[in-house]
Amino acid sequence: MQLRNVSPDDVDAYIRMRCDPVMMADLGGPLPPEGMADKVRRDARQAADDLAWFKMIVPDAISPDVVAGTVTIWSHDTSDGPISEIGWMVLPEFQGQGLGKRAVRTLLEQARDQDRWGLVHAFPATNNTASNAICRSVGFRLLSQGETAFAGRVLRTNHWVIDPEKDLR
Ligand SMILES: CC(C)(COP(=O)(O)OP(=O)(O)OC[C@H]1O[C@@H](n2cnc3c(N)ncnc32)[C@H](O)[C@@H]1OP(=O)(O)O)[C@@H](O)C(=O)NCCC(=O)NCCS
Repeated sequence: MQLRNVSPDDVDAYIRMRCDPVMMADLGGPLPPEGMADKVRRDARQAADDLAWFKMIVPDAISPDVVAGTVTIWSHDTSDGPISEIGWMVLPEFQGQGLGKRAVRTLLEQARDQDRWGLVHAFPATNNTASNAICRSVGFRLLSQGETAFAGRVLRTNHWVIDPEKDLR
């Protein structure tokens, strides 16, 4: 498994992830495909400028064009000040093989090794069993439950946090 920066050519994978009702069931439902080319261009630009880490999950380096999903760390403002947040998605045909967990752990190892991002927060939906299992396995601590805005919707979420220097397992 490898991680590489998102590129503008990843629009098809973005559509398969973000515009699919099953993939988006715990994220408030599918997004319209019209916005995806712009979204992937913006993400690719931020990744190239190293403003955020937008990574594609490549299961096998021999076939770099085959992608299994995304894992992302970015920083944003909240009412309590700026935080670093991590998010992830794995396409259905690659789910249940440990790829999501390995990708999340790999990106957090990079954060630790580069001393970047500080504490990293995650906000999976409370009923997203696999995402909450990833948080638990990798070493996040559960802080609270609450509501999180995602792509213009409000979701019931768990609030997890990890210090990659101390907590990663
Ligand atoms: C959530 C998601 C990323 C999981 O990715 P994955 O590669 O299938 O997960 P893994 O195979 O690495 O498994 C991670 C953990 O979840 C568990 N798990 C995986 N699929 C599961 C399922 N369908 N039901 C319950 N647990 C599941 C695994 O047993 C593992 O737990 P463990 O660490 O205790 O062994 C993927 O299902 C997904 O993208 N779903 C749709 C989009 C989404 O919900 N994104 C996350 C928003 S926070």
